Amino acid sequence: MLNETTQNAKNLPRRNPPGPSGYPIVGVAPRIGKDFPGFLLKMAVEYGGITLLELGPKRTYFVTQPEYLKQILVDNNRNYVKGYDAVKPLFGDGLLTSDGDTWFRQRRLMQPAFHHQQLASFANTMIDFTAQMLDQWDIVKRNNQPIDVAAEMMGLTQKIILKTMFSADANANMADITLAFDIALNHFNNAMFSPLSQITWLPTAANRRYHWALRTLDEVVYAMITDRRTTHRDESDLLTMLMNARDADTGEGMSDKQIRDEMMTIFLAGHETTATTLSWAWHLLSQHPEAADKLKAEVATVLDGRAPTVKDLPNLTYTRMIIEEAMRLYPPAWMFARVSVNPDVIGGFDVPAGSLIMLSPYVTHHLPSIWNDPEKFDPGRFTPEQAGTRHKYAYLPFSGGPRICIGNSFAMMEAQLIMAMIVQKYQFHTVPGREVTPLARATMRPFPGVWMTL
Ligand code: HEM
Repeated sequence: MLNETTQNAKNLPRRNPPGPSGYPIVGVAPRIGKDFPGFLLKMAVEYGGITLLELGPKRTYFVTQPEYLKQILVDNNRNYVKGYDAVKPLFGDGLLTSDGDTWFRQRRLMQPAFHHQQLASFANTMIDFTAQMLDQWDIVKRNNQPIDVAAEMMGLTQKIILKTMFSADANANMADITLAFDIALNHFNNAMFSPLSQITWLPTAANRRYHWALRTLDEVVYAMITDRRTTHRDESDLLTMLMNARDADTGEGMSDKQIRDEMMTIFLAGHETTATTLSWAWHLLSQHPEAADKLKAEVATVLDGRAPTVKDLPNLTYTRMIIEEAMRLYPPAWMFARVSVNPDVIGGFDVPAGSLIMLSPYVTHHLPSIWNDPEKFDPGRFTPEQAGTRHKYAYLPFSGGPRICIGNSFAMMEAQLIMAMIVQKYQFHTVPGREVTPLARATMRPFPGVWMTL
């Protein structure tokens, strides 16, 4: 029997998916307005699970229906490559941006750093750094100062990723690193939609900032590699794994540049996303005191005042459900893309080779056809019973298939531990007049931060 895709390819006339009409050259760009995720959601609701969007010079297929997402990410995943050339200066040929054999070799090499047992050994680092942050908050509380919880979460997850993956300590340059990271991510975001910003040799202010950002991040990462190569410290971390890796055929090790690419990828992909998830969760809890009370009660019952351990994680179920609901409403990786290698048929529509495919967890997570009252904050959606009623790809904050986020369990564990420890000690109160809105760039962040008193 033919599968649906083949059947459609054979029997149906070739046709384009529906979509909004655009203007010459600029396509639908002028119609987007300030709320890009909102525009995309409107398109998906109006035109269905696959929509043709004329975004600038490229024909873009915007895919949101879970069955079609599965086709792209799992069933026919080899036909869809990353095509993230615009961010190659930042991530090089690291795991996030590479494809084919390079990606497969590196993924296999790095996977052990994310295995269950290895993850458990990271828990103490996560707990220790969170405890240190809470000690510092004692001073803040005494002075009744407001804090930007989003910035605090970013600082914390940055320290955790550096220590767990590279056995490195955060240093005085952290503010520079955060700024450099922001600039680089912004560039990534612009480059996705504006071919002009891909011309980085022009001496514009934006390009100067971008090159400074790349230099700053490179200096940090290369300093870590040099330190390890000269001291020969044998840490059981990802950096050691990368350094000890040998090519099965040639016996050659990885060059500094290859190691740099993987480190940069893990450092950048591995902290801001989790920090953003936690920031949104705190914001949502401040708006829903009944959920905050329930969370506090769960943590009190499970931990009885002591510090959490990995063994407690399966019992912190409501904590997990809040994190999952925060990622449904505000998935940090709210949109990502693929390029089709060969022609394919999705949902009966023809997708030519070389097409840009946009996928948006944000939009799929807000589809009224899947989610009852999608704008409502309701952690109850993530009980096993409720989750079991949905298509697996109705919820994809970490993507899916072979290219699923390598750090998904790391991130969930980290978020659960941090959340439980904070709830044990503090309750947040929003600072009046500081409204929070989603800022959709490369990630979806709470803007202008999450200001709270303790
Ligand atoms: C809440 C936190 C996180 C979210 C929402 C998230 C989300 C994602 C998503 C959606 C992708 C797929 C991107 C694409 O296909 O273009 C991805 C890939 C990736 N993530 Fe995460 N991530 C998180 C945390 C982490 C952490 C903690 C690490 C590392 C410690 C990490 C490392 C990576 C890497 C290396 C990839 C590329 C994997 C591959 O292609 O084989 N992420 N992540």
